[in-house]
Amino acid sequence: MTATTRPDRQVHKGLAGVVADTTAISKVDPATNSLLYRGYPVQELAASCTFEEVAWLLWHGELPDAGELAGLHERERAHRALDERVLRVVTGLPRHAHPMDVVRTAVSVLGALDPDACDSSPGAELAKAERLFAALPAVVALTQRLRHGRDPVPPRDDLGCAANFLWQAFGAEPAPQVVRAFEVSLVLYAEHSFNASTFTARVVTSTLADLHSAVTAAVSALKGPLHGGANEAVWKLFEEIGPGPGAADRARERVREAVAGHRKVMGFGHRVYRDGDSRVPTMRAALGELAGHLGRREVLDLYDALEAAVAEEKGIKPNLDFPAGPAYHLVGFDTAVFTPVFVAARVTGWTAHVLEQRAANSLIRPLSAYDGPAERHLPTR
Ligand code: COA
Repeated sequence: MTATTRPDRQVHKGLAGVVADTTAISKVDPATNSLLYRGYPVQELAASCTFEEVAWLLWHGELPDAGELAGLHERERAHRALDERVLRVVTGLPRHAHPMDVVRTAVSVLGALDPDACDSSPGAELAKAERLFAALPAVVALTQRLRHGRDPVPPRDDLGCAANFLWQAFGAEPAPQVVRAFEVSLVLYAEHSFNASTFTARVVTSTLADLHSAVTAAVSALKGPLHGGANEAVWKLFEEIGPGPGAADRARERVREAVAGHRKVMGFGHRVYRDGDSRVPTMRAALGELAGHLGRREVLDLYDALEAAVAEEKGIKPNLDFPAGPAYHLVGFDTAVFTPVFVAARVTGWTAHVLEQRAANSLIRPLSAYDGPAERHLPTR
């Protein structure tokens, strides 16, 4: 074999179709178009559980009993307020910094300050996961406020995690309909097996690096528009097309142009689901409730028009980012803050995977098939 011929080893570009390990945390089944967290269909969890209950389920494998939930509430509320040093770093970043860069930096600082930074025992890792879970909504809310030159809002311990998140972001008590739609999105975004960011967290953990390092890397992976950044891109598309009269025609035209130019329409397609993303109907319903409550029917009309146009032109269905982007806009977040909200949800899944990886670790180190120049030597000098 010369160095420029294809190597005989089979290459799985993008690791597509490769089963990298086992996991008991979630099951994505494209054949039945289902997503289970620890065995429970995600739709059932979204309909009747709080985000805190789902976080516990992901970490521990079972839903919490009343005592366990009360304990989690107490610890989560105790860690909502940000350390002064985190506040200083976040407020010291330029106002135009991308919110994902702000969140990534904050996670790294939280890691350096964590009392258990050097302890990777299961108990310490779980405590760190809970502290990150508690602090991230405050970081994201602060990011949203700083972009508008507003001061931080102190947390309220009479509110659940989702409601307090919105309280800290907007400084006003959110309507129950808004909290409900938002909480549904947090539950649906919480976990999705070996997606790129979760796999990144597992790779970092497999080197025996600490939990905050794994989450910092996962945030970086989530930033890309082919992953978490898609929810941001979806709302930009909605804005470019413009909801309102004539939107259906503009949407169709826009999709045709994209397909003709071989450009992706963000919020559509999925590496695993080939017949639609199992989370979309639940999030579409939540978006519908939210838009109904806020009197923003025109957003749903544009949603339906884009969905129909992409189905017609390309036969592809939406993924979760498609309903989540408009929902986050209606909730009041700036477009650039959508993916950080996703971080605050997915940190539950990432940390559950960190715990699982560490419990049965094997260094993740694939091979590569070299196709560069054949061995050669420097001329004698
Ligand atoms: N818009 C238009 N066409 C799309 C598309 C989209 N969003 N997603 C996939 N396709 C098309 C590709 O152009 C390709 O068509 P072709 O065979 O005619 O060339 C075919 O579908 C396969 O696409 P491919 O990119 O190889 O699939 P993948 O499994 O590697 O990609 C994604 C999965 C998610 C990366 C891809 O669907 C995508 O980029 N979507 C947009 C970004 C997004 O919403 N990401 C969030 C994921 S949850």
